[in-house]
Amino acid sequence: MIRSLQSPAMPLGLSPLQLEEEIHRLRKERNAIILAHYYQDADIQDIADFIGDSLELSRKAAATDADMIVFCGVRFMADVAKILSPQKTVVLPDMNAGCSLEISCPADKFKAFREAHPDHIALTYINCSTEVKALSDIIVTSANAEAIIRQVPADKPILFSPDKHLGAYLAKKTGREMLLWDGACIVHERFSEQELVKLKTRMPKAEVIAHPECEESVLRHADHIGSTSSLLRRVSESSATQFIVATEPGIMHQMQRNAPNKFFVLAPDTSGSCSCNDCPYMRLNTMEKLYLALRDKAPEILIEEALRVRALQPLTRMLEMSPSTVASLKNIA
Ligand code: 13P
Ligand code: SF4
Repeated sequence: MIRSLQSPAMPLGLSPLQLEEEIHRLRKERNAIILAHYYQDADIQDIADFIGDSLELSRKAAATDADMIVFCGVRFMADVAKILSPQKTVVLPDMNAGCSLEISCPADKFKAFREAHPDHIALTYINCSTEVKALSDIIVTSANAEAIIRQVPADKPILFSPDKHLGAYLAKKTGREMLLWDGACIVHERFSEQELVKLKTRMPKAEVIAHPECEESVLRHADHIGSTSSLLRRVSESSATQFIVATEPGIMHQMQRNAPNKFFVLAPDTSGSCSCNDCPYMRLNTMEKLYLALRDKAPEILIEEALRVRALQPLTRMLEMSPSTVASLKNIA
């Protein structure tokens, strides 16, 4: 039961309105910025200063002049904010907000994987620990992975970690052979091809849009595959009016907001009835914990400096190699 990770509600004696007012007051007092991922609860998305996918949130964390970053997302995202902006106080409302992909890839095993393939370049999905980032050559997100892979010299073999489904999708898309780490997202793996096919026959005009962390059996039915922000753009730009959405349901809040006259239904999971695709880690953050994080400047992300500097290198390469910036593979080819 992945939902059992949910923390109990914390009674603070504040009404929802008072909670919002306190968050606004403290945000100003602390010169803080609230960054939120699209998978956060709607009330958190609504109060955030900026909402985005992993890449956009990284860029925002690197560029902000706020003194404090309240990161409403999961641990690896808040870690990236701290790696890129070490002089700022970075807090994560619930320090247990991890990620199944990060858990699937312990640093010691990843190190052994690298050492077994010394001629390979290690491209690592941003959903991993700071230690794994520090052992990698280039970090990628689902928004920039394809463009970055296309900049890797054709004769350079690639290790892709830790998401085997994203890796397989990218290998097919780019025609590159890649050695894949055996990790997966527990949320995106729950979608069922069989149930999706049944739903498609009931909604023949609907477009299927999917995050590339889904299994190939689901992706093969998708009309559009992309990062969370790519899926959001698609619903606004497409002429379709109905969408079957194969990603975490938190994103539906922005979809409905951006395209209020369109209809969205979550892709079915293996049970065919319940949609148990909430990310149990993302859902650990609540408005109460957001308020407490601002008030107490805790739980704070702290990273040992030598480790941070090592993890910064592959992240900087990612930012340099992302579309719209100049590519440079000089240091790793
Ligand atoms: P995006 O970078 O597409 O927002 O994805 C992050 C994530 O964790 C998806 O499960
Ligand atoms: Fe990790 Fe999956 Fe949750 Fe994204 S949805 S944070 S990949 S567990």
